[in-house]
Amino acid sequence: MSITVANLSHTYHPGTPLETKALEDVSLECRRGEWLSIVGHTGSGKSTLAQHLNGILLPEKGAVRVDGMEVREKSPHLREVRRSVGLVFQYPEQQLFAENVMEEISFAPRNWGVQEERIAALASSSLSLAGLDESYLSRSPFHLSGGEKRKVAIASVLAGAPSYLVLDEPTAGLDSWSRRELVSLLVRLKGEGLGIVLVTHDLDIALQFSDCILMLDRGRRVVMDAPRKVMEHLRSHPVSGLHLPEIAALSAAIKNTEPSAPLTWDWKELKRWVVRRTVSGEVHLPGGDV
Ligand SMILES: Nc1ncnc2c1ncn2[C@@H]1O[C@H](COP(=O)(O)OP(=O)(O)OP(=O)(O)O)[C@@H](O)[C@H]1O
Ligand SMILES: [Mg+2]
Repeated sequence: MSITVANLSHTYHPGTPLETKALEDVSLECRRGEWLSIVGHTGSGKSTLAQHLNGILLPEKGAVRVDGMEVREKSPHLREVRRSVGLVFQYPEQQLFAENVMEEISFAPRNWGVQEERIAALASSSLSLAGLDESYLSRSPFHLSGGEKRKVAIASVLAGAPSYLVLDEPTAGLDSWSRRELVSLLVRLKGEGLGIVLVTHDLDIALQFSDCILMLDRGRRVVMDAPRKVMEHLRSHPVSGLHLPEIAALSAAIKNTEPSAPLTWDWKELKRWVVRRTVSGEVHLPGGDV
């Protein structure tokens, strides 16, 4: 059971002066119970790719399949695909439409035929999972802060009980506590068997929590591999706009002069190595003391 993308290309406004190639020959797979992160510079095609995963955009070249169901125009499976794959848009304003949060969150379960008497409880529990209390249910989604809007958008997708959750830069606008809460929610949902596809500029989260990272550069797949391999790739092929987190950058700098140093984003792993080498008096850190 997985989302697969094979050799997908997408061009906006083909044949016009506004023609823009957004994706070229991109392939990926994300199984249920796995976390795939998609990273890349601004304009590299991440949102275009995300919107293909639940049929908001339909493949013009290449193929997208969700649990074997092909995503294409007039496919009899399109409704089921959209039910299976919940997409949290990059900008909550693209997603929110209802007069109040209750209506907003009820939309997906109602649309999928959940019994009316179960919907209120589902709305409250989804809102609480996303980190907001019931006092928000009567409020207009348009009068909320950026971070609150994002949480409502996440709740409204969760209420549809998807098998895969695709989130396009969901940590933008969240404070560090809410960011941590969201990450633990995603870890938990993954543990419950959901496939998580996270579009992010936040390499710290991508390296720590993904099973696999796909990196895009100008619409092309540069690398798709385990976090450590992607980190090695970034060390030798830096991408402007994608910065290694501080610990990762420090470990990469140390490794330039100390090949035995670990290449890691994990402070404890680096510290263990530094302590071991410092105690043995062998380490020469770049730029002096740490
Ligand atoms: N609706 C559109 N019409 C025309 N071109 C578009 C449209 N949406 C995106 N593009 C172009 O397609 C390319 C990929 O855009 P996309 O939004 O997928 O990138 P992204 O990686 O999500 O960027 P960001 O990190 O800024 O969100 C860019 O060159 C962008 O200008
Ligand atoms: Mg985007």
